[in-house]
Amino acid sequence: MTAMELFDDLEAGELSVEFEGQEPQDVLAWALGHFGDTLAISTAFQEGDVALIDMAYAIDPSIRVFSIDTGRLPQETFELIEQLRERYTGLRLELLAPNAGQLQRLVDRHGPNLFTRSVEQRLLCCNVRKVQPLTRYLAGVDAWITGLRRDQWASRTDIRKVELDHDHGAIVKLNPLAEWTEDEVWDYIRENDVPVHPLYAKGYTSIGCAPCTRAVAVGEPKRAGRWWWESNAPKECGMHCSIETGGFEHELHAILGDEAHD
Ligand code: ADX
Ligand code: SF4
Repeated sequence: MTAMELFDDLEAGELSVEFEGQEPQDVLAWALGHFGDTLAISTAFQEGDVALIDMAYAIDPSIRVFSIDTGRLPQETFELIEQLRERYTGLRLELLAPNAGQLQRLVDRHGPNLFTRSVEQRLLCCNVRKVQPLTRYLAGVDAWITGLRRDQWASRTDIRKVELDHDHGAIVKLNPLAEWTEDEVWDYIRENDVPVHPLYAKGYTSIGCAPCTRAVAVGEPKRAGRWWWESNAPKECGMHCSIETGGFEHELHAILGDEAHD
């Protein structure tokens, strides 16, 4: 049975209302029971992501976890991955890579650091390195879990705990931490001694690819260090909201080539 047959937007909305005020573990336990092996946690190894891995592993150690290794991640992310593999024995963590042909065309045509040139080129890079691998992976599951929270950024204030993801075949998207604040996440991490990304100790407050993330100054918004050189840009990569590709649609098409649906 597909997610489509299980839910429509109305039912997802009703479930969301039901889960409001409940703990993230309640959403995870329900999701694991409901979707089992057709469910996976997406992780960028940020604070909410590791808290979710800890919670879900405690409920069911066979939970599937995936992360997109864009090819530009900081070394510290891999150090944390090693720590997590040690801490959570047998953790089913899959690292996904961008399609080699698409990546080659991207770099051949625009060079490795295209993201510094314009918002369009940055979004092109995010599309090939993150959005395409995500889309390929999500075609094989019925539901995915994210670490998104309402307190992260203006574009996220309205997220629900249960949504239908119309950008990815109307599968179910679960945001168990939607209601939690950053402080609540860190309290959980401390109480449960969860391994955290080493870059937090260096002043980072949101972590993505190495060249596109920097530490923030005290008082700066949490996502200020992501694509910090851009102004009037979405501070999103397209994984969580479809981004208007008008400006680079033609180029994207040429880069994706025949492998667009691999
Ligand atoms: S992003 O859109 O700016 O990159 P952000 O870093 O805030 O997203 O992360 C939000 C959530 O998206 C994470 O909690 C995680 O669930 C998912 N996510 C982000 N980056 C990745 C990635 N590289 N691989 C898998 N999931 C990711
Ligand atoms: Fe490319 Fe930067 Fe996006 Fe990573 S965050 S995919 S390096 S533009």
